[in-house]
Amino acid sequence: MESSQLDPNDTFYAIVTGANSGVGLATCCRLIDEFLQTRPQSHTLVLIPTTRSSRKSDDTVKQLRAHLAKTCQKSEKRVPGIGSVLEKRVRFQAEMLDLCSLISVQACGRRLRNTIPKLDVLICNAGIGGWTGLNWWRATYKILTDWVHSTTWPEGFKIASVGLVTGPQVPPTGSAPPTAKGKRGSGGTPEPPLGEVFCANVFGHYLLGHYCAPLLKAARPQAGRIIWTSSLEAYASEFKLEDFQGLTSNMAYESGKRLTDVLALTYDTPAARPYSSRYFETDDANTSDNRPRMYLSHPGIVNTAIISLPFPWIMNWLYMVALYIGRWLGSQWHTVEPYTSAVSAVWLALAAQSTLEQVEGREGKGKWGSATDRMGNERVMRTEVEGWGFGGIVGDCAGKKGRKRGAVDLKEGERDKFEGLGSVCWREMEKLREEWEGRLAAA
Ligand SMILES: NC(=O)c1ccc[n+]([C@@H]2O[C@H](COP(=O)([O-])OP(=O)(O)OC[C@H]3O[C@@H](n4cnc5c(N)ncnc54)[C@H](OP(=O)(O)O)[C@@H]3O)[C@@H](O)[C@H]2O)c1
Repeated sequence: MESSQLDPNDTFYAIVTGANSGVGLATCCRLIDEFLQTRPQSHTLVLIPTTRSSRKSDDTVKQLRAHLAKTCQKSEKRVPGIGSVLEKRVRFQAEMLDLCSLISVQACGRRLRNTIPKLDVLICNAGIGGWTGLNWWRATYKILTDWVHSTTWPEGFKIASVGLVTGPQVPPTGSAPPTAKGKRGSGGTPEPPLGEVFCANVFGHYLLGHYCAPLLKAARPQAGRIIWTSSLEAYASEFKLEDFQGLTSNMAYESGKRLTDVLALTYDTPAARPYSSRYFETDDANTSDNRPRMYLSHPGIVNTAIISLPFPWIMNWLYMVALYIGRWLGSQWHTVEPYTSAVSAVWLALAAQSTLEQVEGREGKGKWGSATDRMGNERVMRTEVEGWGFGGIVGDCAGKKGRKRGAVDLKEGERDKFEGLGSVCWREMEKLREEWEGRLAAA
């Protein structure tokens, strides 16, 4: 049976971006396992992994099929005959998506709207760091003298490129001369720069969420969810409104992750609602009231290819050992293995809406992190956000684990400031979206 012939009421549609490696691939595997364990036998998962090339898509689907087969074999040993039943409950529909090409994002959105009837969850996982290396002397000193802290918040020893920008977005019109940076704009107008790290991590996903809004709104009984991937390194100090895309920053990754936190935590506040409502707006009157939800996750500290190290075999092994030591020294955030690190995003994807509403209604909107105990037993833990605390509630920081050294408890009035920042960020993102859509439409 084709995916398009499935009954939407019994089918769960999930997109995972950057699904060919690291946390993204593990999120897909975990989603398969937990879906099969927790959803009724009559329900099917349509998993949509996105990658940047057809080769990566084929390879990813192959790996996911192999994972599914292994899961089914294990179940077959416990309950003979169940394996083939489970295997039929998962379908794959690979998509190509380059988040740094706005045309690719638009095309992907269009293909999705033409091929699936609704979307239950969009997991915005893909990302780049923009790092070029490490200051090895400083890294070694910091790790040896302050192991857990410096492997959790590796400030001051990652080296990043400043001012990375994407390639041209608007297709050349032939007569338009290239600008000094080799960029062309429609009608000869130079394009403004678009930060590469900002675009891969935040803006590309932001646009994808917008183009998927009709699908998210078509999900029933409640609208679909957008799950953002943040980091423990979403430092407030690194995000500056006047350098919204982090173009002049040597911490563009951290700046973008802070922006991610702010956008996801405030999307439903009264001050940001006018902008986020415009973002979710669609032409379909039947679904106009069904507002999608946004959730915020992070994978902890994981051994993946996001930072490329020299002599990868030995250095990745040493990095992994350093992370395990961090875990054994008591860090809850050293998830280390990608599968463990996927626990928070998958929980947010599959939890009942009533569960999420209950917990966020009681404790405030949160940043949900993947965490572990010393033995590697995973769990989902709320994570502190500067200026928001654990849930935007004064007094909610007391006795909490996993805080950064020197973290300051949320004070009266800070939540209002955070919400004010959220509203400005939402306004800027909507402005940027409309400007870029205008440029692309005029081309
Ligand atoms: N690793 C950690 O400790 C850690 C900690 C906190 C947060 N995170 C977050 O976790 C997420 C996944 O990272 P990871 O550690 O799993 O890194 P990873 O193994 O490098 O995976 C990143 C994925 O993003 C894809 N990607 C990169 N640029 C893209 C673009 N322009 N368009 C579409 N896809 C793109 C990559 O595809 P290609 O293979 O084609 O490049 C890859 O599939 C990121 O958002 C990252 O910030 C990771």
